[in-house]
Amino acid sequence: MTDSVKYVLDESRLPKRWYNLIADLPSPPPPVLHPGTKQPVGPDDLAPLFPMALILQEVSTEREIDIPEPVREIYRQWRPSPLFRARRLEKTLQTPAKIYYKYEGVSPVGSHKPNTAVAQAFYNREAGVRKISTETGAGQWGSALAFAGALFGIEVKVFMVRVSYDQKPYRRAMMETYGAKCIASPSPETQSGRAILEKNKDHPGSLGIAISEAVEVAATNDDTKYALGSVLNHVLMHQTVLGQEAMAQLEMAGDYPDIIVGCTGGGSNFAGIAFPFIGAQLRGGRKVQVIAIEPAACPSLTRGKYAYDFGDTGHLTPLVKMHTLGSTFTPPPFHAGGLRYHGMAPLVSHCQELGLLTSKAYTQSEVFSAGVQFARAEGIIPAPEANHAVKGAIDEALRCKTEGTQKTILFNLCGHGHFDMQAYTDYFSGRLADQQYDEKELAMALAGLPSVGA
Ligand SMILES: Cc1ncc(COP(=O)(O)O)c(C=O)c1O
Repeated sequence: MTDSVKYVLDESRLPKRWYNLIADLPSPPPPVLHPGTKQPVGPDDLAPLFPMALILQEVSTEREIDIPEPVREIYRQWRPSPLFRARRLEKTLQTPAKIYYKYEGVSPVGSHKPNTAVAQAFYNREAGVRKISTETGAGQWGSALAFAGALFGIEVKVFMVRVSYDQKPYRRAMMETYGAKCIASPSPETQSGRAILEKNKDHPGSLGIAISEAVEVAATNDDTKYALGSVLNHVLMHQTVLGQEAMAQLEMAGDYPDIIVGCTGGGSNFAGIAFPFIGAQLRGGRKVQVIAIEPAACPSLTRGKYAYDFGDTGHLTPLVKMHTLGSTFTPPPFHAGGLRYHGMAPLVSHCQELGLLTSKAYTQSEVFSAGVQFARAEGIIPAPEANHAVKGAIDEALRCKTEGTQKTILFNLCGHGHFDMQAYTDYFSGRLADQQYDEKELAMALAGLPSVGA
């Protein structure tokens, strides 16, 4: 057993419940506010956008929520996902650290995103919904919802951030294969998109803009609901199958993590791997060091302000308290499209404020260098987003080498990069420049934060 490489759980060990960290936190996260009244929103305010079952999960303080059997049945196709011990990477790094990674690239679309897409499509279908609109950055979330929509007979319309739409044409083809419609954002289809295009017809787009377009479609069509692939409490909760499985797999290995690393776009895969361990710690279990890794070109946790802000650029969403770069901030068009979001999940932000996690930012060339080193040792080619977690884990392993400590590191390899090979080609040909965000634009976006009384 001591030289095992892969820890696999039987289908019967698939988690039966999602875990809700809110139940174990010393204080609840600040409420979501109505942008007009600045008062906390109630379930009815969210009803035009989401089915009630998901709204109730969003505000739930229960520690666990049962995963419906039809969702578990679909999960079983790729879950429990494998946990690997990165033995060859450890050798390459000559580190005394033990490195484990949970691999979510085994899902049909190649990432963690179906864990929530399947659940969201299920609850929408239960509520009789036939059409859903959404946004996507790199295309992983759009593909995941397109896949889930196909399973539940729901029409899916995806607004894909323009720069990713151009960088990753096969993601669009994948969404279409599942029967979804994929539109480059900003688009002329919505008022939010047209307003942006009028100012700049070549706008690269951003997740904030694509969210506005998708929300607008749902808000203005009675037969359409909206789905978000990250950020919200219920989305983070759906991803906790990841951490729960990893906990059982590490038990098989006779280990427990000292350090947990994940990449953060909106925060869902990171929360999925880390929250079950943070919860165990809060209930008196072992302390874990939790590190969120984000892109230096879109550094919400490390450079953003912890303040109330809109979740979208067109200001159609409620106000949430989060680490934000300002809702009008457009990140430069770097390759980890799934991490180009101006804000962070309110729950992840709250955990940082509570001192339960720390964050770090890396440039795109350093994360690709780490991703290539990982691929050459472990064989799996990570998604550009996942390369951030790889770099974070490698740095911790090298720190162990310098300090001569044998720590156990767990990171989430949230997706493969098979649709992202252009980014690797650019990296090898020296065309993957480290793009800086515009400091003036950041200052302006932060100056424009909505004012909310103390
Ligand atoms: C592979 C991958 N990882 C990470 C992310 C970022 O999202 P989150 O922070 O919600 O996990 C995305 C988003 O599209 C993604 O495609």
